[in-house]
Amino acid sequence: MEIKETNIYETDELVGQYCDFQYGDEYFGVTNFAKACAHKAVAYAKETNYSKALDLGCATGYASFELAKTFDYVDGIDYSQAFVNVGRELQRSRHISYTQNGEGEIKTRKEVSIDDFNFGNVSSKVHFSQGDACALAPEFTGYDLIMATNLIDRLYQPHLFLKSIHERLNANGIFVLTSPYTWKEEYTDKEFWVGGYADENGQEITTLNALMDMLGEHFELVAIEDVPFVIRETPRKFQYTISQMSVWKKE
Ligand SMILES: C[S@@+](CC[C@H](N)C(=O)[O-])C[C@H]1O[C@@H](n2cnc3c(N)ncnc32)[C@H](O)[C@@H]1O
Repeated sequence: MEIKETNIYETDELVGQYCDFQYGDEYFGVTNFAKACAHKAVAYAKETNYSKALDLGCATGYASFELAKTFDYVDGIDYSQAFVNVGRELQRSRHISYTQNGEGEIKTRKEVSIDDFNFGNVSSKVHFSQGDACALAPEFTGYDLIMATNLIDRLYQPHLFLKSIHERLNANGIFVLTSPYTWKEEYTDKEFWVGGYADENGQEITTLNALMDMLGEHFELVAIEDVPFVIRETPRKFQYTISQMSVWKKE
């Protein structure tokens, strides 16, 4: 099974939008989502020894750097080479520039520095690679924390990821998932949706219930909370979304 043919996350438009989402301004008083998730994940992982973390579906890398303020070693993995290149560029040249949408055809060039976020001293602890959450290479293992924010409803076969992720965590390791559960056939064939459908008996399957079934054998569900985020599309158009964070401790 191949990932869906048109990977929107490789386009300049999406690279700019995610750079702005992760490294740009905050809107409507909503905290930077990557920062909020990383801080919450660090707090939930406080009983680990903070050795090794994995930020899966890391996009342009903000949360990976934020985790490196606490963890000794962080892997940031994303399917999009263009996204991974942003994190690497910030490590290499200590700044990135990206295009932000204005009205119509108007574009603004924005530039941020690694020092704007105090990532300079920790950036060498982060290791970015292009990879597939549904078919991770064997070396990505031994984590105290695995964080996968807004990833599962963008995977082509999320069960491949969810059914085996426990194998990559240390005992008592923490798995932090967030998702707004926006299942779309554009990303995931309907037969692979984790939830958001009615089964053959007409019973509605919610993603959270399905996650409990899929993960329950290896994890204890330790917390659930809402985490909002805002993505700027244009100066006058924003996506405001409430993601659900579920926190799982490996048994
Ligand atoms: C909605 S974005 C979320 C990005 C970031 N984690 C966040 O919370 O903002 C989904 C991300 O998952 C990545 N992705 C999609 N399919 C993937 C796969 N099979 N393996 C790894 N990453 C994938 C995309 O490239 C994109 O960066």
